[in-house]
Amino acid sequence: MYKVNLMPAGAQFEVAAHQTLLQGALSAGIPFPNRCQIGACATCLCRLIEGDVHYHLEPMLTEQEKEHGWIFACQAIPSSDLVVSFEESDDY
Ligand code: FES
Repeated sequence: MYKVNLMPAGAQFEVAAHQTLLQGALSAGIPFPNRCQIGACATCLCRLIEGDVHYHLEPMLTEQEKEHGWIFACQAIPSSDLVVSFEESDDY
């Protein structure tokens, strides 16, 4: 189980080791934005502030987007405790 802190609302939930960030949020009752759940619509896009995630299938993100921490919650599997935000960074 990894702990996830969702900013700016400050919601917290746990994600089991095999679950995606989105699955963990939804099973905790968090209304996490999503549509396709297959990495195609970008509705679940959010920014990783702290921690690490990995993917079974790398989503299509530009180098710049990766640098700014954008991840696909429906595809990202936590590798550590995370802090995630829906806000863009100041320098983006
Ligand atoms: S829900 Fe569509 S890309 Fe994640």
